[in-house]
Amino acid sequence: MSETVTILGLESSCDDTAASVLRHVAGQPAQILSSVVFDQSDLHADFGGVVPEIAARAHAERLDICVEAALKEAAMNLTDMDAIAVTSGPGLIGGVLSGVMCAKGLAAGSGKPLISVNHLAGHALTPRMTDGTAFPYLMLLVSGGHCQFLIVHAADKFTRLGGTIDDAPGEAFDKTAKLLGLGNPGGPLVEKEAERGDASRFKLPRPLLDRAGCDMSFSGLKTALRRARDLIVDEKGGLTVQDRADLCAGFQAAVADSLVEKTRRACLAFMDQTNTPTPVLAVAGGVAANTVIRDGLQGLCKAQGFAFLAPPLKYCTDNAAMIAWVGVEKYRAGDFSTMAMAARPRWPLDQTAKPMLGSGKKGAKA
Ligand code: KG4
Ligand code: ZN
Repeated sequence: MSETVTILGLESSCDDTAASVLRHVAGQPAQILSSVVFDQSDLHADFGGVVPEIAARAHAERLDICVEAALKEAAMNLTDMDAIAVTSGPGLIGGVLSGVMCAKGLAAGSGKPLISVNHLAGHALTPRMTDGTAFPYLMLLVSGGHCQFLIVHAADKFTRLGGTIDDAPGEAFDKTAKLLGLGNPGGPLVEKEAERGDASRFKLPRPLLDRAGCDMSFSGLKTALRRARDLIVDEKGGLTVQDRADLCAGFQAAVADSLVEKTRRACLAFMDQTNTPTPVLAVAGGVAANTVIRDGLQGLCKAQGFAFLAPPLKYCTDNAAMIAWVGVEKYRAGDFSTMAMAARPRWPLDQTAKPMLGSGKKGAKA
């Protein structure tokens, strides 16, 4: 096994153009030498969501600048890399293609090997990059585009225990913010409003809690919230500051309750399948930044005897360091790709799980 591996990672599957240089010395913590992320939110702000064509063009324009910035920050050249790892799915196909073409060009020009990376594997293996977490562990991906529970058995072996059948929670937070006239991204704004709100005033549903298993649903909650809002508007002609805060608090509590209960079931299923003596629940995704949800999950972990792990937010949201890390794991396993590597809009981590119905606002994820 190579003692030291240095990987250039590229990520462009959604609305962040990212490049990173990561070095790993066997048996030591990962060294993230650079992690550059070019955010595109200003380009999509007027459209109320990510516009795939705009995203793809922006990735194509910015990827080489992003790679240069990542190499410069790491004080390295392409010749210092052992391989080039790139997200080749799942995600918005135009963006994924931009990244794959860029990586192929870099590989052809430098003679370095190519490594194809599943974006979801990037999220799922982040705890190994940041904390050296040992297999197996339980992972909850919870963001604007993802929502699923995974048992991470190995770098290339995952069991999906469940996921959302419609919206991702971040998407529901963003839609709620829009319904209540707050800005974008909605999650942090809803959380802030909720601080002053009474979560018990509106009885919002906790969908699918009556159904066994770990699947979740968040789109009915959004509809219930709209109904509650419309009733007040019909009655009073508009929302007071307190009405808005109470609606936010009620919505947030419903999401937290659903996530915590489904996570409890996922913990039981994890123990059933792995019987690990030191179980870990790791979270990734922007929604994991929510204090009420995080506190709920932490409390649950304590009760279930799980350690709770939340990597730093910059590595929980989309970034290329996590892609470079998967590159390290695949490099050590000798798992390389050829120039025939394709971009894949859909690419579930667990090929045996039933397909997910939901896609998420940021495009089909798995
Ligand atoms: O992981 P992320 O940055 O991007 C992807 O979706 O890939 O997650 C962004 C999502 C957005 O929907 C945002 O509203 C949500 O995470 N979010 C939050 C909070 N901060 C970000 N949701 C609830 N509470 C928060 N504090
Ligand atoms: Zn992601």
